Amino acid sequence: MADGRLNGKVAIVTGGATGIGGGIADKLAAEGASVLIVDIDDAGANTRAASIRDKGGLASAMVGDVSTEDVAKAMVDRGVDEFGRLDILVQNAYGVIGLQDGSALETTVDSWHKGMNLLVMAHFLGAKYAVPAMRASGSPDEYDPGPWTGKGIRHGDPPPREIGRIVNISSVHGLLQAANTMVYETGKAAVNGLTRQMAIDFGPLGITVNAIAPGHMVTENLEKLWAEVGNEEGFHLEELQYPVRRTGTPDDIGNAVAFLCSEEAAFITGVVLPVDGGLSIQLQENIVLELKNYIQENPNLKTFFDGGFGTGDRR
Ligand SMILES: NC(=O)c1ccc[n+]([C@@H]2O[C@H](COP(=O)([O-])OP(=O)(O)OC[C@H]3O[C@@H](n4cnc5c(N)ncnc54)[C@H](O)[C@@H]3O)[C@@H](O)[C@H]2O)c1
Repeated sequence: MADGRLNGKVAIVTGGATGIGGGIADKLAAEGASVLIVDIDDAGANTRAASIRDKGGLASAMVGDVSTEDVAKAMVDRGVDEFGRLDILVQNAYGVIGLQDGSALETTVDSWHKGMNLLVMAHFLGAKYAVPAMRASGSPDEYDPGPWTGKGIRHGDPPPREIGRIVNISSVHGLLQAANTMVYETGKAAVNGLTRQMAIDFGPLGITVNAIAPGHMVTENLEKLWAEVGNEEGFHLEELQYPVRRTGTPDDIGNAVAFLCSEEAAFITGVVLPVDGGLSIQLQENIVLELKNYIQENPNLKTFFDGGFGTGDRR
């Protein structure tokens, strides 16, 4: 049986079949939470849930597109029915690779709506149904908030504490913009604003809302893309752009999510936390100039962008 900081809590992880969501589901389960994985990939979600159960954790899978209201409502009902309560919602699902390509000139109204529905509306819908369920669940039985020591801080009854946690998965692309991917960049920036808005709205209810902005995380899909399109020299170029000199893994995000969902993080809300090895703190014009020698010494390097993914030649 898993034992950790999230014992007794129940979590929903959207897009938890694979990639970053898979890492999050694994970590929350390892910390003691019961996890409902909601994903359009039925087989992948069931495989992930089974692997968590094999390790002694509690997990279940539900198939569904979280950009629809029916699924947002159904996943909350399912989590509560199956595990008895709801404490944590991690909104991570995304998968319209290719659809979001282009500036305003190339983007169609249809791709705008599809992209925004999944990138942004899903987060609003998830919260709309999860927050009432978190409030109805209250604190886990074993939670002891300790004495209320609000004197000088706040008067009256103590506010509800430890009722719930929402973590939205944003991106460094919500902090800094890349060319010609308007829908994704705009959607992730909107997730950051939505996170701050919900933090203000739900803080008084005892629910913290934070976002995580991952850098380049080598998921199963990206590993495949690198293997098909990139080469070692190209991957090293990617690493050299990170102050910690490596790219990320789903575990890095799982660790950050578990912390934000723990009681230690009770006073953290409305934060967009970059988990990016320092990628987004650098002055980018220097990076290119500093990497010039490496690029000249490795003229055959190939990155995953060389497969047509991304923005292409900027000259
Ligand atoms: N991988 C990275 O480098 C990176 C960097 C920054 C941010 N992110 C963000 O992290 C999140 C996960 O990305 P990833 O790289 O792990 O992606 P991924 O493609 O590896 O996994 C995404 C999962 O979401 C599921 N999914 C897709 N559409 C869905 C829908 N409508 N409803 C339910 N499930 C759906 C997929 O089936 C898949 O299991 C995304 O929000 C992405 O924008 C990823």
